[in-house]
Amino acid sequence: MLQGKKIVLGITGSIAAYKSCLIIRQLIKKGAEVQVVITPAGKEFITPITLSALTSKPVISEFFSQRDGTWHSHVDLGLWADAMLIAPATASTIGKMANGVADNMLITTYLSMKAPVFIAPAMDLDMYAHPSTQQNLKTLQSYGNHIIEPGTGFLASKLEGKGRMEEPENIVACLEQFFSRQESMKGKKVLITAGPTYEKIDPVRFIGNYSSGKMGFALANECANRGAQVELVCGPVSSSMQVKHPNIHRIDIESAKEMYEVCKEQYPLMDSTILCAAVADFAPETVADQKIKRTGDGMVIRLKPNPDIAASLGQMKKEGQTLVGFALETNDEESNAQAKLKKKNFDFIVLNSLKDKGAGFRTDTNKITIITADSKKEYPLKTKEEVSKDIVDELEAVIGQKAETR
Ligand code: PMT
Repeated sequence: MLQGKKIVLGITGSIAAYKSCLIIRQLIKKGAEVQVVITPAGKEFITPITLSALTSKPVISEFFSQRDGTWHSHVDLGLWADAMLIAPATASTIGKMANGVADNMLITTYLSMKAPVFIAPAMDLDMYAHPSTQQNLKTLQSYGNHIIEPGTGFLASKLEGKGRMEEPENIVACLEQFFSRQESMKGKKVLITAGPTYEKIDPVRFIGNYSSGKMGFALANECANRGAQVELVCGPVSSSMQVKHPNIHRIDIESAKEMYEVCKEQYPLMDSTILCAAVADFAPETVADQKIKRTGDGMVIRLKPNPDIAASLGQMKKEGQTLVGFALETNDEESNAQAKLKKKNFDFIVLNSLKDKGAGFRTDTNKITIITADSKKEYPLKTKEEVSKDIVDELEAVIGQKAETR
């Protein structure tokens, strides 16, 4: 999987810098080409001579070569690489990356990077647990970067035992896993709905819900990372929710009706569809033209049912198409999810319950159960990025089974 891959390895000033030699050895053994970019502090921990001997390439540290004054182009490195790995990544580098402080060659290379970026933090637990470090890691993750942590491979939901850099063989395994998945959905078209819908009451008020779009965006990134072309139909989410991946085309809508129209049009063109949006089931029967004034009396808003997007797409489903739904429940979780699986003609349904701490709306984590007509798999609490991997693995398994039986 790493054969012929071009990896930019960023090394920063941590005691774990010596482990980057082991990372280089393994990457090269597996056929990758490695270009080291090191920070000035990194050079205090490991010498460029050792690194260039291992990679058979001069190590880049300054903007200009000290030997002949040639300019090192961070832009060219950003275009050359298939992946950038920063290991070890100190709290300082993580902070600079999250905030675009481009004061050394490593950060400018990161900011110009077109390829996926993997970050293996290395620091003591107090620094790691500090809210600013945690916030910076979350920011980097929300930009689509992959955080590699001890034990989990990727960003964990708990702090215990964290901070120490993941072992070199596991870091390399994360890259291998990434590249093995990267092509698995190449050429496939996937429709994903995300976020809430807003149903207007008057020009200033609406009926909505707490969905942030995080789960749907994580799914879109995961499918895009595996090579799929994604149509992301998304309700009103915060401006911090941005798509970066070139394979994702975002279509913004506001109401359930608008989401329905877009989905109905897109669905026949799709191989797979994942309905993660929290769609309002009802909308006000009439929308006031002007702001409704307070009269002192109570008021009644009459609601009419919205289209059930999932059920409509379930009816339109053709052989070879895969339809995945979500069920957000507060009670009788499994039986409600089973009923939705059947009624909406889903291939499988992802159940998340508001009874589980850290699951559902707005959180960075989720706890899911994947239910098919004849199976049930429960997963522990994970980040929404990790949850997406489990869901998309299941999607690919179902697609594979369908292809076999055809
Ligand atoms: O966005 P986040 O803050 O990250 O939160 C994620 C989430 C909690 C919104 C997500 O994980 C989730 O559970 N999404 C589905 C929420 C929901 O509306 O569930 P439901 O049980 O009401 O709907 C069942 C299925 O039918 C869903 O796939 C839903 O998208 C779909 N549906 C529902 C109503 C409707 N009118 N049309 C639909 O397509």
